[in-house]
Amino acid sequence: MIEALRSRRSIGKLEGDVDQMQIRELIELAVAAPNHRLTEPWRFTILRGAARARLGRLWAEIVARDLPLSGEARAGVLQREAGKMLRAPVLIVASVRTDPDPITAAEDFAATAAAVENVLLGAAGFGLGAMWRTGAAAYAPEVKAFLELDPSDRIVAFVYLGRPAAEPSPPKPRDAEAVTRWFD
Ligand SMILES: Cc1cc2nc3c(=O)[nH]c(=O)nc-3n(C[C@H](O)[C@H](O)[C@H](O)COP(=O)(O)O)c2cc1C
Repeated sequence: MIEALRSRRSIGKLEGDVDQMQIRELIELAVAAPNHRLTEPWRFTILRGAARARLGRLWAEIVARDLPLSGEARAGVLQREAGKMLRAPVLIVASVRTDPDPITAAEDFAATAAAVENVLLGAAGFGLGAMWRTGAAAYAPEVKAFLELDPSDRIVAFVYLGRPAAEPSPPKPRDAEAVTRWFD
């Protein structure tokens, strides 16, 4: 466990395919995360195959409509943005419903982030590569509509999942001491 926590790294270059049973198991690991009052606030939407391309096209249109571009320049943006959803064979979209009580909503969001970390660690355990991404697509109402989420839901992560196609970059040194205070 400790070795897994120390060695997990984001891997952005992903390829191949992921076994459906492994995806199911990753979601089982996700829902094992702690959540206060067992509200089970999370939802997981799996995008594979052509569904990634459909979302990519929608996303590209959203980006391009706000840019004063036409012709080849616009086509280039459309292609680049649409390709973003194809950076992995599987996307797991982790979202959370928003409870009317702000404290519950904050705790539900935290629980869903913990669930996402379980997915990342589980993926590492399976020898898969994974990358937690958000970006503007995570906050676009049209993307939530495409995913059939409620407008008040929040997307916590797009987890890009696949077989690692590159070595992860070495971790940036992190200083635990500098962010720790002790009160005795
Ligand atoms: C809430 C959240 C959002 C993130 N969004 C992005 C993103 O949009 N694009 C990206 O490249 N990485 C994103 N990341 C991944 C971080 O960039 C990554 O974890 C960080 O670079 C450290 O790398 P490591 O996971 O290998 O330690 C996100 C991570 C979190 C927790």
